[in-house]
Amino acid sequence: MSEEMSNASRFEIIKSIEGFVEENLSSLLKPVNESWQPSDFLPDMTKESWQEELKDIRERAKEIPDELLVVLVGDMVTEEALPSYQAWLNRLEGIADETGASSSAWAKWSRGWTSEENRHGDLLNKYLYLTGRVDMRAVEVTVHHLINSGFDPKTGNDPYLGFIYTSFQERATKISHSNVGRLAKKSGEILLHKICGIIAGDEARHERAYKLFMAKVFEADPVQAILSFSKMMKLKVTMPANMMTDGKDKNLFTKFSNVAQRLEVYTVKDYADIIKNLVDGWNISAIKGLSDAAAKAQDYLCTLSERYQALANRFSFAGEAEKFSWIYDRKV
Ligand SMILES: [Fe+2]
Ligand SMILES: [Fe+2]
Repeated sequence: MSEEMSNASRFEIIKSIEGFVEENLSSLLKPVNESWQPSDFLPDMTKESWQEELKDIRERAKEIPDELLVVLVGDMVTEEALPSYQAWLNRLEGIADETGASSSAWAKWSRGWTSEENRHGDLLNKYLYLTGRVDMRAVEVTVHHLINSGFDPKTGNDPYLGFIYTSFQERATKISHSNVGRLAKKSGEILLHKICGIIAGDEARHERAYKLFMAKVFEADPVQAILSFSKMMKLKVTMPANMMTDGKDKNLFTKFSNVAQRLEVYTVKDYADIIKNLVDGWNISAIKGLSDAAAKAQDYLCTLSERYQALANRFSFAGEAEKFSWIYDRKV
């Protein structure tokens, strides 16, 4: 089958799922009037009590360790590059919002997803600003650079690769935000714990949606779906912010990832666990009637998590402390 033909059939499969998406939109996205907004978690600057509320946040935020702040900034920068993710989602075949305000189910999903995600960067950005703990300009420069550099998860415009990537990535961000929240609570910053929890809840719902979409693809087109899953895993799922820089530091993403690994916010073990979750969730081992190539991909996928687990067990992270412009060049 030529590349073109396989793309055309993917387009058709995605279109054939559209009715299913329409039926499930109301459970996968939250109605706006039931949705949280960033200001629900921040001091009300129109009230007399704003100074007290702000003082409380700043007092508690003093206790956040520098290394946790660095991970939180990296997560916030990742969320703030949302324009790149929406542009990418809109390029996937069959998903594209043809007019920009199309009433197709896929277009409603992609705009709904984007508007829910938009609150994540917004809330984390305002929170970090209010803490007085970070060099906001350095952080903003990083966001500026990241959107400038773009986002290329190596999926091309392929919707199957796209949904495998997002299924993985939403679960990864859920894990990361939850762990930051857990560590924030440990340091006594209960507001940050709450903020990370509410964001992780969105990521969990989005994870469920993308896994469900991909499950429908597995039903309709198992051979191409399994080949795509194995292809995506061989390409490796890079974090969306892997091109981040503050304009000075070319290795900023690696340094940030190392701190996240060290704090056990997001680790090689998590990577292995996510693979297992997807392989089990899509019931990869039970898929029958595969071509030779697809059966090979199935074998590869079914043992992949174990191989990453072994790698995680051997992994040591005895790196030197590195400085971050986000916290005024202090080292963590
Ligand atoms: Fe998010
Ligand atoms: Fe997300």
